[in-house]
Amino acid sequence: METVTVDPAKSIPAFYAGQSILLTGATGFLGKVFIEKILRSCPDVREIFLLMRPKKGLNMNERLEKLLNLPLYEKLLEEQPSNFEKLIPISGDVSEKELSLSVADRQMLIERVTIIIHVAGDVKFNNSLKYAIFANTRATRDICILAQSMKNLIALVYVSTAFAHVNEPIVEEKIYPPVTDWQKMIEIAELLDEHTLNVFTAKYLDYIPNTYIFSKNLAESVIQEYSSSLPCAIIRPSIVTITEKEPMPGWIDNVYGPMGLFIGGGKGIIRVAYLSKTVNEDVIPVDVVIKAIIVICWKLGLTTFTADSTVFVLNGTNQKYMTYQSCIELLHSVVNELPFEGTVWTPHTILTDNFVLFYVLTILLHILPAILIDFILKFSGRQPMLVRLQRKLFVVSRAISYFSFRKWKYSDTNRLTLMSLIPPENLDMFSFDYSYLDIKEFGKHGVIGVKKFLLHEDINRLEEARAHNRRVYLYVTVVKTIISIGILWIIYKWIYCCTS
Ligand SMILES: NC(=O)c1ccc[n+]([C@@H]2O[C@H](COP(=O)([O-])OP(=O)(O)OC[C@H]3O[C@@H](n4cnc5c(N)ncnc54)[C@H](OP(=O)(O)O)[C@@H]3O)[C@@H](O)[C@H]2O)c1
Repeated sequence: METVTVDPAKSIPAFYAGQSILLTGATGFLGKVFIEKILRSCPDVREIFLLMRPKKGLNMNERLEKLLNLPLYEKLLEEQPSNFEKLIPISGDVSEKELSLSVADRQMLIERVTIIIHVAGDVKFNNSLKYAIFANTRATRDICILAQSMKNLIALVYVSTAFAHVNEPIVEEKIYPPVTDWQKMIEIAELLDEHTLNVFTAKYLDYIPNTYIFSKNLAESVIQEYSSSLPCAIIRPSIVTITEKEPMPGWIDNVYGPMGLFIGGGKGIIRVAYLSKTVNEDVIPVDVVIKAIIVICWKLGLTTFTADSTVFVLNGTNQKYMTYQSCIELLHSVVNELPFEGTVWTPHTILTDNFVLFYVLTILLHILPAILIDFILKFSGRQPMLVRLQRKLFVVSRAISYFSFRKWKYSDTNRLTLMSLIPPENLDMFSFDYSYLDIKEFGKHGVIGVKKFLLHEDINRLEEARAHNRRVYLYVTVVKTIISIGILWIIYKWIYCCTS
């Protein structure tokens, strides 16, 4: 029988057929969704090398096995179980020089890899400068050096961040000059000991708010530098959040940034947040980011690389705007209908941009009740945890406040152009347009997803959660009444003393 070859320019899955991908950051939020999508939507991909490290007592293979048991992969397991065999774990650590690859693995990658998706990174805002430079900047350099020796490389996509250029009020889809020389910074990080480098960190960071952004800013310049010999692209996602629809709506497995605040808000633990009511929350669903990466690679792979080729940059930012205040209101309306289990107070979060007020309200509404509840927990033989949690949340609030009070605009010319190039018959599978999103529905899926995948709550126990909420409402009313009577009593006594 005659086999029909499909033109890769007219079909994204046809382009990926036979490609060997090296994926870093496979065990992270974005990496996991990438694996799922590419194996399901481009089933003829040849293989995916996953650069991984052992962690928490699990070796690479055990980690991979655990990962593939996630509900995220249920659809793929049902539709194409044999495709899991295309995943090949490779031992590596991006914080180590030359990614700590063995000679044999390096050689295998050089021979076989055609596409690199560099996702791995240290995402903690305030890790030491040394570690951030190693894991984010030097790792990107070492990926580029490895890429240069690859025999058949057609595309390298680097996942940066929308906040890599914080001093640009309008972020265009182009490369900006770095905050400092990345080569010198790597040398300094290698030369100085951790303590000395910590002492100088504020000086090095300059106007950049944290070591994460600093190291990502430099990593973009690394890509720029190597782009004269490599077909490179950069995607800059904003805050990546739950899946919009693939493989199911609402999938998430981390609590970074605002997600922690929203869960805390929904459970009544977070009653005050240091956020501007009028600034838009810039989030993008994780499956949308992954589709954009897949399409960028496809475009890059089809474009003839010349010495004049420039880095293709795409801003992966919001297409549906909503202020923090509206997000909180949406959350409260959804958790009224679909409450979280173990709510400690009726959900209501005050947003304030006044730090003094935030500080005072944190003590009154977070710390004092946490001390009381921990006291009760301790005396009922359970582990106290709320004060510790509130302290962590305070630190997170401070860390993200830099981003939640500033507004950036992002140009989207490249995004729109790239969207228009997607072959019509692939739009269903790979369109990364979500401007049509129904926010209310998205919020609902978000709460269900958080309950199922993050908090591991049984979605069939909604009635019990609602009953618990009614009891919480009752005791909150009683506590509020007692406090109000107490305050009135003190005022009465004070007036009585003054007038008698
Ligand atoms: N999530 C967001 O909101 C967001 C927004 C903008 C940009 N980004 C960028 O997207 C990328 C992925 O983010 P994510 O949300 O998926 O983060 P994540 O869930 O924390 O995953 C990070 C990934 O990097 C890997 N990694 C970290 N340090 C490593 C090391 N030393 N050696 C080997 N692997 C290492 C992690 O492996 P282990 O499992 O072994 O730790 C994990 O697979 C990052 O580069 C981040 O800067 C993320």
